[in-house]
Amino acid sequence: MSDRIIIFDTTLRDGEQSPGATMNHKEKIRLARQLENLGVDVIEAGFPAASQGDFEAVKAIAGTVKNCQVAGLCRAMPADIDRVWEAIKDAAHPRIHTFLATSPLHMEHKLGKTPEQVFEMAVEGVKHARKYTDNVEFSAEDASRSDREFLARVVEAVIDAGATTVNIPDTVGYAVPEEFADLIRYLIETVPNSDKAVFSVHCHNDLGLALANTLAAIRAGARQAEVTLSGIGERAGNAALEELVMALQTREPYFGLSTNVKSEQLFPSCRLLSMIIGQAIPPYKAIIGTNAFAHESGIHQHGMLKDRRTYEIMTPESIGREKTELVLGKHSGRHALKSKLDELGFSLDDEAMVQVFEAVKELADKKERVYDEDIEAVVLERVYRIPDKYRLTNLSVLAGTIPPSAAVVMDVDGEERREATFGVGPVDAAFNAIDKVTGRSPELLSYTVNAITGGTDAQGEVTVRIQEQGCAAVGRGADPDIIVATVKAYLNAMNRLAKKEEDKECAVR
Ligand code: KIV
Ligand code: ZN
Repeated sequence: MSDRIIIFDTTLRDGEQSPGATMNHKEKIRLARQLENLGVDVIEAGFPAASQGDFEAVKAIAGTVKNCQVAGLCRAMPADIDRVWEAIKDAAHPRIHTFLATSPLHMEHKLGKTPEQVFEMAVEGVKHARKYTDNVEFSAEDASRSDREFLARVVEAVIDAGATTVNIPDTVGYAVPEEFADLIRYLIETVPNSDKAVFSVHCHNDLGLALANTLAAIRAGARQAEVTLSGIGERAGNAALEELVMALQTREPYFGLSTNVKSEQLFPSCRLLSMIIGQAIPPYKAIIGTNAFAHESGIHQHGMLKDRRTYEIMTPESIGREKTELVLGKHSGRHALKSKLDELGFSLDDEAMVQVFEAVKELADKKERVYDEDIEAVVLERVYRIPDKYRLTNLSVLAGTIPPSAAVVMDVDGEERREATFGVGPVDAAFNAIDKVTGRSPELLSYTVNAITGGTDAQGEVTVRIQEQGCAAVGRGADPDIIVATVKAYLNAMNRLAKKEEDKECAVR
């Protein structure tokens, strides 16, 4: 049995299914390139039959990524499988990932099928996929709540039909580690052709056991793990990629297993995801949270000063946590920016390059040091955002001991509009003025502020989540001025709402 764990990343598929984590087309491609950089083995790029947008994103990722496999998910149905192949056929290493539920609950109540019908569909699905490629994965959805004997029969039959990877998902996060390990061991030991396929696991975190179950299954013989950056995914999420990789790396003498992941790319990858989906990384999040390497108590600090290993089982450097070098100042030229962007994995056309150059120059005028994270924020804001219906031209805000007020000049579909108004604070005043201009009045569901880099001249990064008539959208904005960042985030969210309406993803106003 191999001592290498195949890392199958499903941030762009299962992860994107998590509430508030939708990404636009360009953002998905950017994240896929970062996953390639990170060194994952398989990128599950989406579910092409789900929507035209998903199909196009998977196709674009398949055309972009060269160094890892690109998988598309589909139900075990011929039309779905054909659609996946259409989307991934140009990938350097395509994989069809087909699934069907095998638990009594799902077969009876969701699919309305008998076990024999499901058995037949699974085999036919895999055979159909094999007509296109010899890289076929089959997932037995809700495997952990399936009848063991039936599951073993299905596994044997799909391997016979040509599946090269068999995935055993704990779809609803119901399993516990010993029991789940036992299931994997049972399948590997009792299925006669188990040596012809790689066993994979895909664990959800409903009981907070996703990583524990994944590690237990690996100890029992699974050699592929399906994971997501920061553990995002359906409901409570999936096993977190960074936690799995660092558990295997830090406890290498115990597990004796390795991955291809470049651990120094873990933090930059999770950070990029957080910027794209507009959700901050919780400070206490294992591996990547701000507190993961912070030492508060005197005794700990004393120990750390003597020898870091007293309270640190891994170094911040090993996950790429150290602040990246100062890269650009106001005297840096276009050439320096271009090579920095290449290094960060952004390849921009000339028009985007000019936009980013101008914005970085503007930023360098305002703040002394421009870090990689600042540049990423600028690129995400200027290049990867959806076309704006509402644009800010000018903003002025008065705050202090006087009644706070704001005046905005905006461009709405090419027409200049102005409004000024009061509020209970500067943010409220600015939002009120924007609401007047746009004629919208969304409810503010959440508002978070983060400093992108250190120092008082750090760019503030604001994330807002708004909702109007049952339709929600997330927006983010970055600027050294926190009120400007806030207004940018609010407008970004409004533009996303408007785009959702245009694409009929929400009821049209
Ligand atoms: O959770 C699950 O069972 C899945 C499968 C489609 C792999 O996401
Ligand atoms: Zn899942």
